[in-house]
Amino acid sequence: LAADLPVNKLLGFKGIAASTADDIAIAEGYNAEVLISWGEPLVDGAAAFDPNGGNSAAEQEKQFGDNNDGMSFFPIDDNHGVMAINNEYVNEQYLFAHGGDKATSLEDVRKSQAAHGVSIVAVKRVGDTPRWEVERPSRYNRRITANTQMQFSGPAAGHPLLQTAADPSGRKVLGTFGNCANGKTPWGTYLTCEENFDTYFGTQQADYQTTPEQKRYTLKANEPERNWPDFDERFDVAKNPNEFNRHGWIVEIDPMNPTSTPIKHTALGRFKHENAAVTVAKNGRLVVYMGDDERGEHIYKYVSKGKVDNVNPANNRSLLDEGTLFVAQFDGDASGTPLKGKGRWIALEFGKNGLTPENGFRDAAEVLIFARKAAAQVGATKMDRPEWIAVNPHDGRAYCTLTNNSKRGDEGMPLNPANPRPKNIYGQIIRWDEGGDATAEHFSWDMFALCGNPIAHPEGMYRGTPNITAENTFNSPDGLGFDSAGRLWILTDGKYSNKGDYQGQGNNQMLVGDPQSGEIRRFMVGPKSCELTGVTFAQDYKTLFVNVQHPGEEGDSHFPHNSPRPRSSVMMITRKDGGVIGA
Ligand code: FEO
Ligand code: CA
Ligand code: CA
Ligand code: CA
Repeated sequence: LAADLPVNKLLGFKGIAASTADDIAIAEGYNAEVLISWGEPLVDGAAAFDPNGGNSAAEQEKQFGDNNDGMSFFPIDDNHGVMAINNEYVNEQYLFAHGGDKATSLEDVRKSQAAHGVSIVAVKRVGDTPRWEVERPSRYNRRITANTQMQFSGPAAGHPLLQTAADPSGRKVLGTFGNCANGKTPWGTYLTCEENFDTYFGTQQADYQTTPEQKRYTLKANEPERNWPDFDERFDVAKNPNEFNRHGWIVEIDPMNPTSTPIKHTALGRFKHENAAVTVAKNGRLVVYMGDDERGEHIYKYVSKGKVDNVNPANNRSLLDEGTLFVAQFDGDASGTPLKGKGRWIALEFGKNGLTPENGFRDAAEVLIFARKAAAQVGATKMDRPEWIAVNPHDGRAYCTLTNNSKRGDEGMPLNPANPRPKNIYGQIIRWDEGGDATAEHFSWDMFALCGNPIAHPEGMYRGTPNITAENTFNSPDGLGFDSAGRLWILTDGKYSNKGDYQGQGNNQMLVGDPQSGEIRRFMVGPKSCELTGVTFAQDYKTLFVNVQHPGEEGDSHFPHNSPRPRSSVMMITRKDGGVIGA
């Protein structure tokens, strides 16, 4: 496909080669520089960053968090803006001075909690260039952590399953963590998505019996990936079983009001939220597309009851509290053509579609708290790890990265038309078309790209669709976003061995796709053992911000600037001639 295409008007840069260097590689004519890195002082009174991990928990609370992932840019005027940036998790071996991968004290746990959450960062333009810098001091700069006071809203707020000894109301909750990707509302607030929350809970009680609902959210009670429960009882599921139910939600933050209380919106369901792709339907209703990133989990859509009010933005707050959550079923094409088909959205409403007490759902709140169970009950399609979703601003089609699924084809995870490859190590980008009505209950779908590697597999299903070439080959698409011109930015979080199945793919990278022609070009490559994630733009699209997350997770990086310990960083991409990025 790519080889005989005429000059592509949408993709105005020359694709670059794969790279395995411990550095950024970027298209000719572009610059990449660090905007901010983990540990930099952010809030007034913050201490300087200690490159050897010596900052205390109290110091980390005022510094930029770790492992920046999804983010959004909120313009204030032409020369000022505020960025909301997720701090998904931490690299313990770099966070702690002792260099171990477990917390060894309550102080370690508090430091880890302080490095999680969200950083709100004020930025200002440098002169009249497309470059920006962090503004310090600024009234907007703020850290939201795993211990920040928040509240619940929506149908499950106050439910007995959300009540704890510390919060008998079931309406107040501390903190957010596992903040993977994000969304942005039409009224200028930020949505942060709680993904791998289960890895923070556990207990040392050896005979603890994990409930079926906890298992459905993959709690490994006696071997948590992170050992917060060893020092902080809130995360001990034997002592505080309901605390587990208070995470896995979408949280709304007003980045313009530094004293606002973040809100966990229960109407959007509880699962391992990847991102929240927000769009306004033709009839004015708010629609949010959401993926649940785990092998065999589902794609969801939320449709608000009310309509977006552009005159009185205050009226919009209930839009995320009153509405219907749907889950997707993908079917094949009636004529048997591969890689396309039809689908429908099935409502997750208490009392309908088998979501009844006989099937274990006692009320509307339980359908939301255990959304995964509800989705399975109504026959949702098991997908290959749904990560980001992005909506094309020109035609309303939604694109979703299905990052990979090494267990596809195993027992309990049969092939299906939308997830057609066994041992799917490369992933795919699926897209659906609702005929221009984002509230529609039916859609058609096709595959924008079945990722693959023509170098390792010149023929067959692991080669990928024709728009995958030896020049652009990549695995595990994850981050996804459209710019205003309709370029599809694709970011990867996959294997970077550059060997065997992955030969010729190099480090994780960012590519750009043309939705019409299907052409894909590599734009940027990250340093060693990082992922690139979290794409957002300044209002004139002359600055692109992208995150280098967990560089050197394999102990092999000194990114950036020869740092003794590698640091996750927000990168700022500009064009040397000051033009629009990608054009
Ligand atoms: Fe945090 Fe599914 O990526
Ligand atoms: Ca990530
Ligand atoms: Ca991701
Ligand atoms: Ca991923």
